[in-house]
Amino acid sequence: MVMELALFSLMLTVMAISVAAQAKPGCQRQCGNISIPYPFGTGSAECYIDGSFLITCNTTFDPPKAFLATTDIQVLHISVDGYLRIRYPIAYDCYDSLGRSRNFNAGFRLEKFFISHTRNMFTALGCDTYAYIEGFVGRTYSTGCMSFCYNADEVVNGSCSGIGCCQIQIPKGVTDYELSFSSYWSHSKVLSFNPCSYGFAVENGVYNFSLSHFLDPDFGKKKFPIILDWTIGNQSCREARMDPQNYACKENSACIVPENGSGYLCKCLHGFQGNPYLSHGCQKI
Ligand SMILES: *[C@@H]1O[C@H](CO)[C@@H](O)[C@H](O)[C@H]1NC(C)=O
Ligand SMILES: *[C@@H]1O[C@H](CO)[C@@H](O)[C@H](O)[C@H]1NC(C)=O
Ligand SMILES: *[C@@H]1O[C@H](CO)[C@@H](O)[C@H](O)[C@H]1NC(C)=O
Ligand SMILES: *[C@@H]1O[C@H](CO)[C@@H](O)[C@H](O)[C@H]1NC(C)=O
Ligand SMILES: *[C@@H]1O[C@H](CO)[C@@H](O)[C@H](O)[C@H]1NC(C)=O
Ligand SMILES: *[C@@H]1O[C@H](CO)[C@@H](O)[C@H](O)[C@H]1NC(C)=O
Repeated sequence: MVMELALFSLMLTVMAISVAAQAKPGCQRQCGNISIPYPFGTGSAECYIDGSFLITCNTTFDPPKAFLATTDIQVLHISVDGYLRIRYPIAYDCYDSLGRSRNFNAGFRLEKFFISHTRNMFTALGCDTYAYIEGFVGRTYSTGCMSFCYNADEVVNGSCSGIGCCQIQIPKGVTDYELSFSSYWSHSKVLSFNPCSYGFAVENGVYNFSLSHFLDPDFGKKKFPIILDWTIGNQSCREARMDPQNYACKENSACIVPENGSGYLCKCLHGFQGNPYLSHGCQKI
């Protein structure tokens, strides 16, 4: 009986996920195979709640690719539960035997979206590596990690142990993200097995460190998924309710306080499912 109930609620959850991805009526529902649920939207301004939630669908690609507003940040998945998955290039700082460097410092500024501090890790690879992120969380912050090693045998292959690969949590509330590197010896002491430093934020569980990444000439071209948290506006639930014209939670839904940012989220009431941001979006189960 308990098992059956558990299975039943699991099925409901699965159903809820599949019906939740609804666009506003009359608006494009998908870009390629990516569903675009309201408050996100593409096309005309009625299709999304405000400019931050615009998805640009570029049909030059086959299948078409979705991008966040007017940025080059590719969107892989949008959830009405308050997060989205993006794909973002990694940053690198590489040296040759003459000490010349070739680098790419990744970064973006989002304003309305936060890099989830619970669902991503900041990861740096290298043996002459100090990688740091700078940005804004209400005020300027800087954090990072460093890794120094002197030969390949010291590096623990297959796990990010702090030697050759280091990971830290991203601070809460980060909207701006700028990644930079420094090294003590421009990799000259480790050039034979580690010519580059790499740095990236990545969704938990997606990246597994391998020593072979140090000498992989294509590693710098990789892109990894990052989870961003989104919320509506910057008001509390109480403030938002007092402004019914702009209140985003529709019939049979409740306002919820996000754990991971300012503003609010909406959720269908118990016994209802669907998209709480659409009029009549929450339907009786
Ligand atoms: C979309 O298509 C790509 C490749 O064509 C695939 O890797 C990805 O898993 C698909 N995403 C969804 C949500 O179906
Ligand atoms: C679509 O992508 C192509 C290739 O990256 C780019 O040249 C073009 O400007 C993009 N179109 C839009 C509408 O963003
Ligand atoms: C490190 O581990 C990966 C698999 O996790 C393996 O493919 C690779 O050959 C190993 N490299 C060394 C140098 O042991
Ligand atoms: C990383 O390692 C874990 C555990 O060994 C494995 O379950 C997972 O599939 C690996 N992920 C990738 C992307 O290789
Ligand atoms: C809240 O958002 C509005 C409009 O986007 C903006 O004008 C205002 O400064 C914001 N307030 C705070 C406290 O961030
Ligand atoms: C918000 O943070 C909590 C823990 O603080 C985490 O469990 C949850 O997954 C996060 N939510 C999102 C949408 O990232």
